[in-house]
Amino acid sequence: MMMDRRESPAIQWDGEELILLDQRILPLQEEYISYRDVDSVAAAITDMVVRGAPAIGVTAAYGVVLATKNRLAASSDHWQEDLDGDLERLAQARPTAINLHWAIERMRPLLDGDRESLVKSLAAEAEAIHQEDIAACKKMGDLGAAYINPGSGVLTHCNAGALATGGYGTALGVIRSAWRENRLQAVFADETRPWLQGARLTAWELLQDNIPVSLLADGASSWLMKQGQVDWVVVGSDRIAANGDVANKIGTYAVAIAARYHGIKFMVVAPTSTIDQEVASGDDIPIEVREAEELFSCSGGRMAAEKAAGWNPVFDITPAELVDVIVTERGVVENPTREKIEALFSV
Ligand code: MRU
Repeated sequence: MMMDRRESPAIQWDGEELILLDQRILPLQEEYISYRDVDSVAAAITDMVVRGAPAIGVTAAYGVVLATKNRLAASSDHWQEDLDGDLERLAQARPTAINLHWAIERMRPLLDGDRESLVKSLAAEAEAIHQEDIAACKKMGDLGAAYINPGSGVLTHCNAGALATGGYGTALGVIRSAWRENRLQAVFADETRPWLQGARLTAWELLQDNIPVSLLADGASSWLMKQGQVDWVVVGSDRIAANGDVANKIGTYAVAIAARYHGIKFMVVAPTSTIDQEVASGDDIPIEVREAEELFSCSGGRMAAEKAAGWNPVFDITPAELVDVIVTERGVVENPTREKIEALFSV
């Protein structure tokens, strides 16, 4: 069943096809692309049609449905090995967002089920992952908003909104809830070079909900803090290590350092599907490095000097000691440590 586009703007499933909003061209164009095979779903993740860790996870779950459907239809003797290869390629689509692997692993046990009803049961599981992510975001929104005192200024980085999740958003979920509760004086968003997720996506989303937002060049955030305009930094995450180190969009680390220097609180909002207990610390989280070409141009026009080289890591690690709270759907962890994060999973 299709979900309401306001509830889930980025991802739709109509029972046969996966329909993604093309986030590369927002907000100037609002176009949807339909997918019927797993390799094109993997390419959509790699190419940033869909992005944001939880949204990548939800998309991958539907990718598993399409892969299985096509392998069963081809009725080869080795469909299961072929399917393993499909899921392997899907898992490689982007390296940092752990939700991609989490979703594939959650779908995998169902593959041992009855062949006749397999596609139906996989589709039901993918839809459950999608719905649960929206519910988790709403819960985190309310838990996180409770930390924000009325009259506060918040700064966010990248886009951790409805577009980056099943719906409602993680960091933007907190901002949505806090706005509804009249807690916010001002919302600031870093533009987030080179893909401009802040300028293009966060601003688009917030303004659709009539939440006013001011954009900043990435380098301006510490100066904004110095003016006393920010009480909380609120961001999402692509992967949280067992010790509470946080991988998020490149530039998050710099914002966290500046926040600590200025005595500003730093909140990370992420569902437990983003916590990777297999990695001990941020040192073990793979950081995606994309083509330097992405740095050289803007809206298709070259800006950089012709022969300049470039380095384009798209995530960084904020150490747990710079994080004041991690908000999950299972509860909030203050001053995160390995023990406190472990305790979350025993609830
Ligand atoms: O490269 P992107 O746009 O996929 O990066 C997204 C982020 O860094 C988000 O902050 C993160 O995935 C959390 S989304 C709720």
